[in-house]
Amino acid sequence: MLEMVVGGFYGDEGKGKITGYLAVKDDADIVVRAGGGPQAGHTIVEGKKVRQVPGGFINPKSRLLIARGTLINPEILLDEIEQYGVKDRIGVDYGCTIIEREHMDQEKADLVKRVGSVGTGTGPARSYRILRTAKIAKEIEPLKPYLTDVSAEINKAIAANKTVVAEGVHGAALSLLDYKFYPYVTSQDTTASQFAADIGIGPKDIDEVIVVYKSYVSRVGEGPLEGEWDEEKRKEMGIEEIGTVSGRRRRLADFNYELAKDAMNKNSGTQSAITCVDRLFKNNESVREYGSLTNDAKAFISNLNTFFKSNSRYFKGISIISTGPNLEDTIDLRERSKVGSKEVTEVRTA
Ligand code: GTP
Ligand code: MG
Repeated sequence: MLEMVVGGFYGDEGKGKITGYLAVKDDADIVVRAGGGPQAGHTIVEGKKVRQVPGGFINPKSRLLIARGTLINPEILLDEIEQYGVKDRIGVDYGCTIIEREHMDQEKADLVKRVGSVGTGTGPARSYRILRTAKIAKEIEPLKPYLTDVSAEINKAIAANKTVVAEGVHGAALSLLDYKFYPYVTSQDTTASQFAADIGIGPKDIDEVIVVYKSYVSRVGEGPLEGEWDEEKRKEMGIEEIGTVSGRRRRLADFNYELAKDAMNKNSGTQSAITCVDRLFKNNESVREYGSLTNDAKAFISNLNTFFKSNSRYFKGISIISTGPNLEDTIDLRERSKVGSKEVTEVRTA
């Protein structure tokens, strides 16, 4: 069974926490990070952030893999391997593209100013991959102990009915090929089909696509943002956010139903997770039962559930509601059962 976590807006929806939750709750045999590079920071629980190591490190039993579509800054990766003590259970694909110092310099001199990139070198490194001049992981001496064929490992695990959690990066609205937001996009597409290719699996190997949305929209950097809050509205809402990697103040806006629908369809979303419900609706911190949410929060979730059901083809329901940054602050509406040797997920109605 392969569950893939993807972002529904501009990234930073809380995919890190949801990945960590699934890794623990569903006893993931493998957690694989797909796409992006060190520019994408995931916060798994308070104080535990990763830029390269898969968020599943929070489950000490999970094997951790970095897919070939992910760009690597060896220094950052090796630091995180040390910091989280995962050297015996992490694997890095032979084919991951390597970010070098000059790529970071190039990004700082150009993309940072032009489209608001974060300066970690991901865009330029990827462009050299396209030109076939970038280095890949198998050429980097300190990465040698970790090298593996991620596609082969994942295909084998799926065939053996193991549980795999795949974590995507960013959000659908940052997809490179999107025409509405170009050039304020990232250096690859950021939906499930791209992440499948990044891992080296086919579209039919994804059993569940969990599209993660924040209860409002946040965005780091330049580009259009419909319904953006001004200073007064930010104060009134009492919400502040600082980017994990960029350190920049995140721009905030109202929940965008059209973008949400678009992301659901582009991902063939089967479920969705809604995060930061506690920030938008007061008095919902750490709520763990759907029935204990306040009425305004329940109405929001239930309307959104109906909206997705009537607008998307594969959607089973809002399955996870997050009411705080830590793993326990979660309402889980899934029911898992076995049909033959296969694991099946149903969703109770919100
Ligand atoms: P990208 O890969 O960059 O898109 O990151 P991400 O989706 O993993 O999110 P990121 O960790 O950058 O930002 C989400 C922030 O929200 C983090 O600080 C989380 O700890 C926090 N967070 C996640 N879920 C909740 C929630 O339900 N409530 C509250 N209060 N905070 C949350
Ligand atoms: Mg982030």
